[in-house]
Amino acid sequence: MQIELRQVDITRITVDAIVNAANTTLLGGGGVDGAIHRAAGPDLLAECKKIGGCRTGEAVITKAYRLPCRYLIHTPGPVWNGGSSGEEELLRSCYSNSLKLASDNELEVLAFPSISTGIYGYPIEDAAKIAVGTVTQWPERFPSKVIFVTFSDSDTQVYRDIISS
Ligand code: APR
Repeated sequence: MQIELRQVDITRITVDAIVNAANTTLLGGGGVDGAIHRAAGPDLLAECKKIGGCRTGEAVITKAYRLPCRYLIHTPGPVWNGGSSGEEELLRSCYSNSLKLASDNELEVLAFPSISTGIYGYPIEDAAKIAVGTVTQWPERFPSKVIFVTFSDSDTQVYRDIISS
């Protein structure tokens, strides 16, 4: 598994699929979810409405519409609640279920934002360790490359230290 780190707006990158840090309604929101829906256009919301929602830790795949990538994978991360409500397992499932959809669809390159570490308040260091650990231990042929997309200098430094450790 090839791993890359990029500090960029995830809506601008051309990969097979980008992952959206969604909420369980799939109807859009703020943060990266808001940026993705704004860039993809109204047809994304229409498709998401048909899906009808997604449980925390699960993942669904949709078209990407006006985005430069081919597909979108939406996964609602856990809201940080102190760490004793199964947040770690749920966050790990976001990554593994997104990887599973990429594998099922034979997608080569997948880009993840830092799920749950914004509005949902998950501590960045713990979340990044779960993200990098889950991806590096993924055994399947697809995806062959994962890009971790960060959106602040501090998050980039956290991911860089974990990836290089
Ligand atoms: N590109 C890449 N990363 C981004 C972008 C962007 N355009 N915008 C925000 N981010 C980063 C944030 O800086 C944070 O590191 O994505 C990470 C995840 O933050 P959020 O988007 O707030 O997602 P999350 O913490 O999982 O909260 C999800 O927020 O937007 C709502 O509908 C969403 O209710 C859900 C909740």
